[in-house]
Amino acid sequence: MLLNRIEYALMNNPARAFVQRRFEAKRLLRMGGTMHGGRALEIGCGRGVGTELILDSFGADSVDAFDLDPRMVALARKRLAARGSRVRVWVGDATAICAPDASYEAVFDFGIIHHIPDWRSALAEIHRVLEPGGVFYGEEVLRRFILHPVVRGLLEHPLRDRFDASEFAEALTASGLEPFATEELWGSFAWFAARKPATP
Ligand SMILES: C[S@@+](CC[C@H](N)C(=O)[O-])C[C@H]1O[C@@H](n2cnc3c(N)ncnc32)[C@H](O)[C@@H]1O
Repeated sequence: MLLNRIEYALMNNPARAFVQRRFEAKRLLRMGGTMHGGRALEIGCGRGVGTELILDSFGADSVDAFDLDPRMVALARKRLAARGSRVRVWVGDATAICAPDASYEAVFDFGIIHHIPDWRSALAEIHRVLEPGGVFYGEEVLRRFILHPVVRGLLEHPLRDRFDASEFAEALTASGLEPFATEELWGSFAWFAARKPATP
């Protein structure tokens, strides 16, 4: 689902980049470790701040990134132009990822899966495109926050079938991934690191 006007402004804002750099990425790095090179995928890349972090902090050699919103893709392409062939950005949908099986050593989700009505299909796709031994790094927004009356008044999310942290971790397991770190804040936000088993 595309962002409404308010959330679009909140995401394309220096405050969001600050939080993503100072808190979200640092937490995921502590939980999941660095990549030691290799190819990464960022789903729902927004304007591309996450892709910069995946290259500069997580240590990916290259990043493929996509977003459902062509306006976000245009912003990300502009932001990441100087990275040359290390980055590819396209318009795409996390429930049908345009990449062959086992393409990536890591997949990153900076707060997008809660925007997807059929979010379990996105987890299945993440599992499909990860290499055996590859890691999923996820930052997610939980049901409690999404259903809060103030949030419902301001932002637009799918409302049915949202998740809490344990339900999301269970769905990761059901998709074939093995969660090895989960952290939660205020019952509203959560961070996950999960690995695709090296041998099926
Ligand atoms: C809350 S924003 C987060 C953007 C960025 N990751 C960040 O942290 O700043 C969610 C993003 O997910 C994108 N999105 C929503 N549904 C999507 C889908 N099915 N596939 C890919 N991107 C999607 C939206 O267009 C939006 O850019």
